[in-house]
Amino acid sequence: MQTIQQPAAAGAGNKDFLPLYGTDYIEFYVGNAKQAAHYYKTAFGFQSLAYAGPETGSKDKVSYVLRQQKITLVLTTALRPDSEIANHVHRHGDGVKVLALRVADAADAWRQTTARGAQSFLEPATHKDDQGAVTLSGIHTYGDTVHLFVEREQYSGVFLPGFVKWEPEYRPSESGLLHVDHCVGNVGWNGMNTWVGFYENVMGFRNILSFDDNDISTEYSALMSKVMSNGNGYVKFPINEPAEGKKKSQVEEYLDYYGGEGVQHIAVATKDIISTVRQLQRRGVEFLKVPHAYYDELKKRVGAIDEDIDALAELGILVDRDEEGYLLQIFTKPVEDRPTLFFEIIQRKGAQSFGKGNFKALFEAIEREQALRGNL
Ligand code: FE2
Repeated sequence: MQTIQQPAAAGAGNKDFLPLYGTDYIEFYVGNAKQAAHYYKTAFGFQSLAYAGPETGSKDKVSYVLRQQKITLVLTTALRPDSEIANHVHRHGDGVKVLALRVADAADAWRQTTARGAQSFLEPATHKDDQGAVTLSGIHTYGDTVHLFVEREQYSGVFLPGFVKWEPEYRPSESGLLHVDHCVGNVGWNGMNTWVGFYENVMGFRNILSFDDNDISTEYSALMSKVMSNGNGYVKFPINEPAEGKKKSQVEEYLDYYGGEGVQHIAVATKDIISTVRQLQRRGVEFLKVPHAYYDELKKRVGAIDEDIDALAELGILVDRDEEGYLLQIFTKPVEDRPTLFFEIIQRKGAQSFGKGNFKALFEAIEREQALRGNL
């Protein structure tokens, strides 16, 4: 077992050329945004925030914006077949298109990253309405995924210019989700170091943790992972690549079904994982389950914890400890028909790591599902 904790990169004390203030929003391209919005409201407790569509002057696409505390999701569908959004859904199924990052200066973020080799997705442009101005710019990352830089200090509107407030009567309650903890990308064979280099050189991130295939392998399938973090630690992007095992890696199954590289999971934080997961299960969110034997070993492995182990076992919540504390986490099944994107619910109690001690139990649970799909 070898986990490599990296020292701070040389020059880490220098001025951050791409200061980020966190995830601004995550946009999904989906086949039916109206129904997807209903799912994220009903099942996950997201609140209706904003809308853009034909009624607001958007003739070729519809977007619903949902929010829960600091997490903003945008669900977008094409209204016509001859559109990049429709092509994206055709190739990938429902999936993440945009990981948008909050910046103070979107034009500078674009200049800094494209000067370091990023491929431009959107040249800086300022959008105005009577609520102020937002400047957006964007670059490509792995697969068809993009990063948008969002500068919104001069804007007081509901979301972005072009959007109106969405105030339907149907308003399920929140579920305790607070903010995005990390977003994981799956990349192709031998692609991990290319994308680690991209985040280091183009975006000024550093590699804070690495897991090799000895850490992350079961009897059958394997993967490797490196965790990339921006300077202030607000944005963390682990990057996975498949590794050779006796059978097909879960990352390879993702690549086959997504039709290439893309976002594998979005981890969202809660302050009370037992209450949040209990609510999500009641609302219909499906989670991966580990065998009960996992909980027999738990106390010995992680020591004393505040939570009642019986409650964790009932819900299937996993626990891991590192030098700084512990964390609780659980993973949903994929949230679309293709076995691609899923969510992680995480509660950190000091630990800043990613649950390495759970990888084996977790991956065996993923493989049981993979075998049921005939892909192992
Ligand atoms: Fe994760």
